[in-house]
Amino acid sequence: MNDGRVDGSGADGRPLDVAVVGLGFGADFVPLYADHPHVGRVGLVDSSPERLAAVGDRYGITDRYTRLDDVLADDRWDAVHILAPVAFHAEYSLAVLRAGKHCACAVPMATELDDLRAIVAAQRESGKNYMMMETSAYGREYLLAEEMYRAGELGALTLYRGYHIQNLDGYPDYWQGYPPMKYITHALSPLLALTGSTVADVTALGSARMSEERTAHFGNPFPTEVGLFRLRDSDVVADITMSFFQIARSYVEGFSVYGDQRSLEWSGVPDEPMRMFELLPLGPQGRGRSARETELEPPDFASRLPEALARYVRKYTLTPADGGPPVTKVAGHGGSHPYLVHEFVSSIVERRAPAIDAATSAAWTAPGICAHESALRDGERVPVPTF
Ligand SMILES: NC(=O)c1ccc[n+]([C@@H]2O[C@H](COP(=O)([O-])OP(=O)(O)OC[C@H]3O[C@@H](n4cnc5c(N)ncnc54)[C@H](O)[C@@H]3O)[C@@H](O)[C@H]2O)c1
Repeated sequence: MNDGRVDGSGADGRPLDVAVVGLGFGADFVPLYADHPHVGRVGLVDSSPERLAAVGDRYGITDRYTRLDDVLADDRWDAVHILAPVAFHAEYSLAVLRAGKHCACAVPMATELDDLRAIVAAQRESGKNYMMMETSAYGREYLLAEEMYRAGELGALTLYRGYHIQNLDGYPDYWQGYPPMKYITHALSPLLALTGSTVADVTALGSARMSEERTAHFGNPFPTEVGLFRLRDSDVVADITMSFFQIARSYVEGFSVYGDQRSLEWSGVPDEPMRMFELLPLGPQGRGRSARETELEPPDFASRLPEALARYVRKYTLTPADGGPPVTKVAGHGGSHPYLVHEFVSSIVERRAPAIDAATSAAWTAPGICAHESALRDGERVPVPTF
């Protein structure tokens, strides 16, 4: 919980100066940093001068760069949040940490195990913070599940299902043919966040075959991948479905978590209620316990945020600095963005590791890389390394 103090945020105890790299999805984070009480200046980086000008003008930000290197060479910037396309995540994260700056990065941390290891090592060598900005670990549905689980209301966990189905036709070229399991984090992280566990091994299969023109890019034959993940310190199995192509289904990104007392199912559709099932005592017939079903509207947990960020957990209105008409924005991904920004900034200010530190980020990303490997090897069990 923020108390308004600024104690040694950036160098010399001044507020943190943060640069945001990649202004597609990244543009949504700009006002959050600008409004955070521990942040001073916000800088913008985008390789597209047009995008840079549009977002800079919209938020009245004058520190604009087309090259990340120029931010890294300038001591003024304390932290960098990377939201450039996935192919740049590893290279840019390493560059930021090696330049002695704190690093936040959109998911996934990287797409190869060696890159995960390199980022974990670079974070340790730099002593700076690294945080993967996993939206699914701060969405209101997850926060409700976590609160109930910690209060013992679910009982012992007995099964987890995660799913992310999204049609990527028409997305930029770099997405075409992308192996779905290499973007596993939204579907799997809620379980790992809840249990504090990591994945021991995975068995996965590819479902259907990718059309030829898409296979060329990543050499990935699977539009859909399905995996079973065994945890290290738990008997619970996670059953994960990832699909980006060739499925007639609207966007869904959610999870269901089952306990021996209560369970929560979430359709993964934003703003749809969760369903809670409560197992009832055995009835007089003595055959099968039924469950009472209730709809739950996840509340917000905005009291965990500084006052200036609380409004970003739900639909909010922005007044552009360039004189354009006010714009109403949906608080995407379960209202998770302000919590992520607050956790990243607070961890730096409080000189502690962020909740999703480098080793945790790697542990949440690696299972998907290993799952894709398993699918390519027709379901062979693949161990997931520790970090
Ligand atoms: N829920 C989530 O966590 C979530 C949601 C959406 C996107 N993302 C992640 O955010 C990242 C960005 O996604 P997006 O949809 O905005 O992508 P996008 O391709 O729509 O936009 C990327 C932006 O980065 C700029 N860019 C491209 N190459 C660059 C470079 N080398 N240096 C600086 N800027 C560069 C582009 O001009 C563009 O403005 C992706 O890695 C994606 O995985 C995460």
